[in-house]
Amino acid sequence: MNDPVNIAITGAAGNIAYSAIFRIASGDMLGLDQPINLKLIDIEPAMNSLKGVKFELEDCAFPLINSITTTFDLNVGFEECDYALLIGAKPRMKGMERKDLLKDNGRIFKPQGKAINAVANKNIKILVVGNPANTNALIAMHNAPSINPKQFTSMMRLDHDRSLAQVANKYKTSVNEVKKVIVWGNHSNTQVPDLSYSEVCGKNIKEIINEPWYTSDFIPRVQNRGAEIIEARGLSSAASAANAAITHMRDWALGANDWLSIGQISNDNPFGISDNLMFSFPSICKNGSYEFIKNINMSEKLNDYIKVTEQELIQERDSVLDLL
Ligand code: NAD
Ligand code: LMR
Repeated sequence: MNDPVNIAITGAAGNIAYSAIFRIASGDMLGLDQPINLKLIDIEPAMNSLKGVKFELEDCAFPLINSITTTFDLNVGFEECDYALLIGAKPRMKGMERKDLLKDNGRIFKPQGKAINAVANKNIKILVVGNPANTNALIAMHNAPSINPKQFTSMMRLDHDRSLAQVANKYKTSVNEVKKVIVWGNHSNTQVPDLSYSEVCGKNIKEIINEPWYTSDFIPRVQNRGAEIIEARGLSSAASAANAAITHMRDWALGANDWLSIGQISNDNPFGISDNLMFSFPSICKNGSYEFIKNINMSEKLNDYIKVTEQELIQERDSVLDLL
């Protein structure tokens, strides 16, 4: 057994967290040899409900749980944290875009960044899930100058997994047979799911990008999947978002073979995207960190799509300059 690590989860009384916490506690994120101190953070009015989550965790008698803290005090919640899942934020309702949440949700991430800066471990791995995830992650990062910006990421894994599932469905195969998918840019309806380098059953499928299915079905389906789920459930995705958060953290911490889409700071990227944006790039995870996949050529058409998502992120950033 390893020494226990500290994992902070915000929005811990909410829907995504309810799907995530029990899986994390059972070892799905960091493995069966990694004991965990869980630090569950929510706002003060949610403390009673959070107490109920703690009771249920206790009743599971998870062998990996070393301790459970529930708190609304960020300095307690993030103290000496090694991992943070920043989930707590309002979800959008039918008819909204995720960026409509920025005014309410953006201000949550400034004090969280400051607390992480003050009390967390310097090598902490942070994933922002609360929407709009990319710009919220940028806000948190700017407020934590003592943490390497690469330690802040925003969640694009759900979009990545949605792409894998759509391709597997199209080719009537398993997601295990689909590799090298990319989702570029923002977790919004301007994101760019890209199959130019993808392989199915070991064979490159780049010709797919000239088929009508690609532009009129696949891309808009993935871009708008969140809204499709809200329309069907009346609530935003929760179990699939929790799964994406767990696998994002797992692969970052423990490594993975396939390409992944990770929202990350754009500084020094080899793709010509402006600096100082949280942008999703094709990445590979190894040895507890991640790197850009290099040597990717973008077609003119892809480049046009990517400029749109880049522009949207610039506008989002410009609207929260007071929080940076
Ligand atoms: P929810 O309303 O069920 O839960 C949100 C929780 O956050 C609540 O318990 C609330 O009290 C808490 N909270 C609010 N402000 C907080 C603060 N300052 N500090 C700590 N906790 C706080 O919502 P949910 O369904 O769990 O979704 C959470 C967020 O995740 C939403 O913004 C949603 O849009 C987003 N989301 C992102 C993705 C993604 O792929 N990036 C996917 C799904 C959902
Ligand atoms: C999703 O992609 O499912 C989430 O971002 C929730 C939403 O608002 O679409």
